[in-house]
Amino acid sequence: MPIQLTVFPDECDTFGHLHQAAYLSMFERARWLLLAQGPGMDVFQRAGAWPAVRRTTIDYHAGAWPGDVLGFDVEVVQRGRTSFTLRQRAVRVGDQRLVAVAEIVFVCIDANQKPVAVPDEVFAAMSGVQRIALSTGVTLSVEARGQGGAALLLVHGYPFDHSMWRAQLDGIAGHRIIAPDLRGMGESTDPELPAGAATTLGTHADDLLALLDALTIPRVVLCGLSMGGYIAFEFLRRYPDRVQALVLMDTRPGADSAEGRLGRDKAIALAAQGGAAAIADSMIGKLLSAAADSAVRDAVLAMMQRAPVEGIVASLGAMRDRTDATAMLTTIDVPTLIVVGAEDQLTPPDQATAMATVIPGATLEVIAGAGHVPPMERSRETNAILQRFLDRVCES
Ligand code: MLT
Repeated sequence: MPIQLTVFPDECDTFGHLHQAAYLSMFERARWLLLAQGPGMDVFQRAGAWPAVRRTTIDYHAGAWPGDVLGFDVEVVQRGRTSFTLRQRAVRVGDQRLVAVAEIVFVCIDANQKPVAVPDEVFAAMSGVQRIALSTGVTLSVEARGQGGAALLLVHGYPFDHSMWRAQLDGIAGHRIIAPDLRGMGESTDPELPAGAATTLGTHADDLLALLDALTIPRVVLCGLSMGGYIAFEFLRRYPDRVQALVLMDTRPGADSAEGRLGRDKAIALAAQGGAAAIADSMIGKLLSAAADSAVRDAVLAMMQRAPVEGIVASLGAMRDRTDATAMLTTIDVPTLIVVGAEDQLTPPDQATAMATVIPGATLEVIAGAGHVPPMERSRETNAILQRFLDRVCES
């Protein structure tokens, strides 16, 4: 859950609402608490680097009054060699109204005030993202929230990263939520891996198992969107004892057709030639519902544009060569929820309906006004559906 702070009367102006300058100290306090509750305030001393604020911009969206409880979340917008930018949002807990958004540019300096490369430990501490070294030889960036209840493992699609689950990390209560960047994607790049090293969906499944072991989680509710769903099938095939329940979101069980495989090869060539931007351009038109909010569109586009090219290429190869999971559907014996956007063009609702009819006891939820990425396009509806399912899984 986001850090929560209460607005005090002495932070308000003569009009009675939170003073514009007081927001700055609340954003600061929220970051301080994130560090204090996480890695500890001595993280900078340990790393020999301190993030100094270079620039702050704040957009004010709505007023806040004494007694209002504001939830502060944080996400990374940009990471450079010596600098990084965080975006913090303040949302009123009572009515979920967005109150203010701050963007803060930090430059890391050493004890002599000279800029230094951002140490991983500092970056992880400031962004709320942990770096977890796994027995499979890679280090994954993982964002985790919450305690108790079920453990929900959120597996992102292609060419995305864990930030697609921002609203779920912030909005689902009473359960432990874990959202990794898959190997080669987001911040989970690994310099040790030779460029173009083969990654299969099985490699991702093995990483996820190693992640559960590292976090000492015996069983999870495994939720995958699209490619994440393909990985969920592979995980279930290999490690059924570690799956308590399954959420298949905007995905399908079948392997690629011959034409589809050819399409993957063309996309690999496009990525090599035009980078992540070319892939993002080629996909954005089909990803979202016709009514998609422009902020959501921008966020999806930005996420795809910053995807590492090697990760894109590896994902395309892994999806092209994946095994057909159709035959295993009738054998799935854990509670299963199938979610699909009503306007999903890539994995349309008829495929979700077909899965729901063959997986024993599966529940199907179709989300109106969403395309291929309901967790971002219709986050409230997605959260409500996941929350109900998780609560039910815990009761049974
Ligand atoms: C995804 O969203 O993960 C991809 O669209 C899946 C695919 O290309 O098959």
